[in-house]
Amino acid sequence: MQHGRIKPFPKHFLWGASTSAYQVEGAWNEDGKGLSVMDVFQHPKDVTDFKVASDHYHRYKEDVALFAEMGLKAYRFSISWTRIYPNGVGEINQKGIDFYNRLINELRKYKIEPIVTIYHFDLPYALQKKGGWSNRETVDAFENYAKTLFENFGDRVKYWLTINEQNMMILFGEVLGVVDRSMKNTKKELYQQSHHMFLAQAKAMILCHKMIPDAKIGPAPNISSIYPISPKPEDVLAAHTFSSLRNWLYLDAAVFGRYNSVAWSYFEKNGCTPMIQDGDMEILKEAKPDFIAFNYYNTMTVGASNPSEATKNKNVDQQMVLDEPGFYKGYENPNLDKTAFGWEIDPVGLRMTLRELNERYHLPLLITENGLGTYDTLEEGDVINDDYRIEYLKKHIEQCQLAISDGVNLIGYCPWSAIDLVSTHQGISKRYGFIYVNRDEFDLKDLRRIPKKSFYWYKKVIASNGEDLSNN
Ligand code: BG6
Repeated sequence: MQHGRIKPFPKHFLWGASTSAYQVEGAWNEDGKGLSVMDVFQHPKDVTDFKVASDHYHRYKEDVALFAEMGLKAYRFSISWTRIYPNGVGEINQKGIDFYNRLINELRKYKIEPIVTIYHFDLPYALQKKGGWSNRETVDAFENYAKTLFENFGDRVKYWLTINEQNMMILFGEVLGVVDRSMKNTKKELYQQSHHMFLAQAKAMILCHKMIPDAKIGPAPNISSIYPISPKPEDVLAAHTFSSLRNWLYLDAAVFGRYNSVAWSYFEKNGCTPMIQDGDMEILKEAKPDFIAFNYYNTMTVGASNPSEATKNKNVDQQMVLDEPGFYKGYENPNLDKTAFGWEIDPVGLRMTLRELNERYHLPLLITENGLGTYDTLEEGDVINDDYRIEYLKKHIEQCQLAISDGVNLIGYCPWSAIDLVSTHQGISKRYGFIYVNRDEFDLKDLRRIPKKSFYWYKKVIASNGEDLSNN
């Protein structure tokens, strides 16, 4: 559909950028922080761990000053659970509270809206040792942790995200390092964990509304439209099945407080229906998100799959598409270009995804991740000419504006990432940031910050409220 007149971005649009605690902070064992599952994650040999990351814990003032110079209206970051509760529960670590107070105050000083993710992959290792999300006690631990955050930061934080990418943790937990690889991690176990996360999320949403009536809270899954590989009805059906399991399962639970019927019949077929206790569904129904935050990188393409086909994990390191014999089979989309790391690039798919979310849930939408992970070159004179990143972001922002013209209530765009950080499993050479961090995988160099060309470009985009996307 082509619009005669494209609508402008709303006046108070949240132009932002994102990070997560363990990927940017470093200081993995400082000031009383406990171990998280990310601190014990077995990394591939050729990439760095998260111990120093971008050293944001020590350099947050300098970083926030740069965010302010870029003109960010919002900064989406996560709180490290084990800085607040080193063991997941029990004694509060005051130094952890102090750090986030300083960070939030610094943001507020520059009028940057903090958008806080309560939990972004880094479960306390002490809880993991007790079964992690398989153990129902983790639901209470999460609620208690969320309560502490609302108590301490609720006066200044008005946008909260519950759990980052619950769907990716369930589907690709081993790649992301969030599940215990020594466990069997059967589907039955994983969907039980997912049920517990739904409960934890619902309890946090209910609590947030009680404790901070003027705050807004929502889930933050990874959502993307799913294309059928052909118009063959079986392929279209497979795309619907995959979308019900990958996307709607997570949002139907968060928004409507129910399991969708396709997901439920998939559970029955696979013997993995979660154990639901009396009262659980009432809790899910009572919790109402104020908006949907979501991360978008690419669409996926699937077709029908014969039940007798062998299971094959396809592109696990790249696009994270799975084959499930009898349900769906992942394909490459021949119409799309790819990044240096093999991720398909699909700006139009973002418009499609926004439309689908809008039609299904009728809630305000907030993009909390979208960006290009690739190699950057530091040139003479401290210059990084990342025109490819500008091109990528420009095309996605154009599609956001078209989606707004389609009637989607989009309230903000927070690309990944505000500053270079360590990728989930592919190191720091896979860079996403507007700000370069001078380090390599294993050589920490001087960790100095250098604005990239995209930094100055995004500054102009924000200053013009999305009207000027030109690259000059
Ligand atoms: C999202 C995560 O899945 O994608 C981020 O929320 C992650 O934590 C981002 O960094 C990009 O993925 P990757 O694997 O390139 O780091």
